[in-house]
Amino acid sequence: MNTPAFPHTGDGYQAWLGYRRIPSSDLREQYLPYNRIMIEEHAERDVIIQAAIAELIRGLEGMLGQAPAVLSSCEQSPCVALGIFGSSAVIDGAIQEGTSSKVCEEGYVIRTDNLTGCIVIGAVSSVGILYGVFHLLRLLSTGADVDGLDILENPVNQLRMVNQWDNIDGSIERGYAGKSIFYADNKITSDLERIRDYARLLASSGINAISMNNVNVHKYETMLITPEYLPDVARVADIFRAYGIKLFLSVNYASPLEIGGLTTADPLEPTVREWWRNVASDVYAAIPDFGGFLVKADSENRPGPFTYGRNHAEGANMLAEALEPYSGIVIWRCFVYNCKQDWRDRKTDRARAAYDHFKPLDGQFKENVILQVKNGPIDFQVREPVSPLIGAMPATNQVIEFQITQEYTGQQRHVCYLVPQWKEVLDFDTHIKGEGSTVKRIVDGSLHGSRYSGFAAVSNIGDDANWTGHLLAQANLYGYGRLAWNPELSSEQIAEEWIRMSFGGESDLVDAILRLLMDSWGIYEAYTAPLGVGFMVSPNHHYGPDVEGYEYSMWGTYHFADWQGVGVDRTQATGTGYTTQYTGANFDVYESLDTCPDNLLLFFHHVPYTHVLHSGKTVIQHIYDTHFEGAERAAELRDRWAKLADRMDEGLHQQVADRLAEQAEHAKEWRDRINTYFYRRCGIADEQGREIY
Ligand code: GCU
Repeated sequence: MNTPAFPHTGDGYQAWLGYRRIPSSDLREQYLPYNRIMIEEHAERDVIIQAAIAELIRGLEGMLGQAPAVLSSCEQSPCVALGIFGSSAVIDGAIQEGTSSKVCEEGYVIRTDNLTGCIVIGAVSSVGILYGVFHLLRLLSTGADVDGLDILENPVNQLRMVNQWDNIDGSIERGYAGKSIFYADNKITSDLERIRDYARLLASSGINAISMNNVNVHKYETMLITPEYLPDVARVADIFRAYGIKLFLSVNYASPLEIGGLTTADPLEPTVREWWRNVASDVYAAIPDFGGFLVKADSENRPGPFTYGRNHAEGANMLAEALEPYSGIVIWRCFVYNCKQDWRDRKTDRARAAYDHFKPLDGQFKENVILQVKNGPIDFQVREPVSPLIGAMPATNQVIEFQITQEYTGQQRHVCYLVPQWKEVLDFDTHIKGEGSTVKRIVDGSLHGSRYSGFAAVSNIGDDANWTGHLLAQANLYGYGRLAWNPELSSEQIAEEWIRMSFGGESDLVDAILRLLMDSWGIYEAYTAPLGVGFMVSPNHHYGPDVEGYEYSMWGTYHFADWQGVGVDRTQATGTGYTTQYTGANFDVYESLDTCPDNLLLFFHHVPYTHVLHSGKTVIQHIYDTHFEGAERAAELRDRWAKLADRMDEGLHQQVADRLAEQAEHAKEWRDRINTYFYRRCGIADEQGREIY
């Protein structure tokens, strides 16, 4: 058969599940004998197993060019055999004794049976089989050797969630890839196929939970918990269920007032408690395995328990009590701060807020409450320290919140591979229980023995054909799921998997794209806000440079730049005291100008422009140099990509080329706006005499 080199259209819709035809005949020969699937009849009725088989058929057919047969016994070997431990002789026969007890609910074993030559995928549950199938497909589509497989995988993190910030009118808050795939015209969409394809993408990377509406719950979304909308919500839940993904809804804390006809939403008021219990009963009648509620309260003008003089434990526990009979959970966000606060005294500090509000409440939350803490103390900037609240509440469940959508990192018009940033956060040692108290050990629940723990992140998809606007931003969605499954995977390994699955496995092509992704965060950081100071983006939409831009900046610049210096003094000695929220050595490192890392210097200290960094450069020269270099390197990204023109589908190449061209131009604007601002503030010339206006 004549196989086209690029069998997919160039829109990127298939993402990393394109299952392109395997070009190497050696590999095809190795894989072809496995073009038979064995599953015992009784298992086939399970919806998750059906999804797994459908995926395996799709993948094998795409890669090998022939539809595999599905058999209910293993007469013909070899084959790919799927089954639950204890209910399939083929699976049990192939698994070594004692192995199945090491596999947890969502884990699996993939093993080549020496006797039959079959590849068996065995698990405790059907979702384990689904994950095992995606793993096998990943091996095949990245060109791995499948002889003698002996794999046992369990997810490291329990909750691996995405948060949609989709609104029912079809818009997406901080969405950079078109409109919502969930809603249009104040209704839940009837195009459930696109949602199914999203579920496939999520499950293939290991995601097991989704909240399907924005944390800012407006008028109509408040209604999603009512019988009017629940049947449609249930249809969406059905789709995700087939891929092992639990559905959650964001709720409006003032719902009893807004849609319940009550005069209060006070969490201690019996009528309010009863109202929420009835809501829970309606929701679980429609969706028996519903995950629970996600709540943004008392933040950026959202209602919350503060209105009634109650604290956030009282607020969250009231909802937790309503969900408890159904094993539902409340995910309560810690992004709570007063956006109207006046910080001119240089003591008031937004960065302190989450810790100040929540730390004193440790131990007061019910067991089915999880606090969701943003990775940094401010708001998903290109560079921030790790939030000191993470791990600081040993008696409280916590999940970390990342932002896959690139609100402050180029809005999917600039390339910014975020996995390296997330890994830095996860590897950070909080010292909370002595050395080795890393963030990843807090969020996997092991450090404090938490009942619930894990990852949440704001999704980056919309209805653009390629899901993420920038094709290369798909790597962030994929990478997030993989990292949530196993935070020990390296950024390079994750990127390489994604590249091989999306573009094929020619090594120089893989290398070129890998280097581009790995360079991208550093480049973006270089030409945007310097030395950890943050923001400098246009207010409200947050795209493009505006050095003093900050929507709440009625109190002057947030970075306190004047003619002598720049940066926020967050020290205990002379500043806001934010550094005291860190434990032991971390406090010392950040408190002292001598030890504070350069890349966070302006987050923690106010310094003169002539202050000399550890790098040996002055702050002002660092700003000039990084901005010139950053813009140059952005232009190089464009040129590096241009060289790959005939190495992939033209459509795929062109869409990235267009974005990189825009980035290269926009990086110049960033360079000029920032350099000019600081030059005019301090009047210190660039040592290299480059042109600054
Ligand atoms: C940021 C973002 C908002 C969002 C908020 C949140 O402030 O700009 O759009 O609502 O974070 O995380 O709740």
